[in-house]
Amino acid sequence: MNYEVIRVEEEALLREAFAVRLEVFVTEQGVPEEEELDAYDSEAVHFVAKDRDSNKVIGTARLIQKSPEIGKIGRVAVLSEHRGKGVGTKIMQAIENFACARNLRHLELDAQLQAIPFYERLGYTAMGDIFLDAGIPHRKMKKSLRKTEMETTTT
Ligand SMILES: CC(C)(COP(=O)(O)OP(=O)(O)OC[C@H]1O[C@@H](n2cnc3c(N)ncnc32)[C@H](O)[C@@H]1OP(=O)(O)O)[C@@H](O)C(=O)NCCC(=O)NCCS
Repeated sequence: MNYEVIRVEEEALLREAFAVRLEVFVTEQGVPEEEELDAYDSEAVHFVAKDRDSNKVIGTARLIQKSPEIGKIGRVAVLSEHRGKGVGTKIMQAIENFACARNLRHLELDAQLQAIPFYERLGYTAMGDIFLDAGIPHRKMKKSLRKTEMETTTT
């Protein structure tokens, strides 16, 4: 597949990202539409996977900075016809690279239970009890980001 993962910097691209989220979370998973977009969208950094051939957005996710060291990833979604081809992994890697560049130390997310194996492959660890969000069972997951080589050798 011929696609790229980019950070969203224009309103039109953000609307396309929201359209993917509506398709996946509202239409496919039955999340109430009024809960899908939220107040965090205005402060989050959004990423999209864009198919270079069709010029269409096929996947998305967002990153919220919770503190100088902690970021929270959310709304990870890939259109069903493009799943299982590494698009979700590539979006997550792009977010992690961005988080490292911002000197974040830890990433966390609320994983739907069915998606836990996907995040585990990426190095996230589930913790705590199962809880419901928008009627869907979730668990918290966390990952520590690597220190830079210079920090590792000087500390
Ligand atoms: C979860 C999701 C984003 C993964 O995206 P994707 O592009 O299909 O993921 P990838 O192709 O990069 O998958 C990487 C690996 O995780 C596995 N994986 C992906 N989704 C999985 C799932 N739901 N359950 C178990 N394994 C899964 C893949 O099989 C793949 O394994 P492999 O490398 O051994 O083949 C996508 O399935 C999706 O949008 N699901 C619906 C929305 C959703 O549940 N989002 C998560 C909310 S917490």
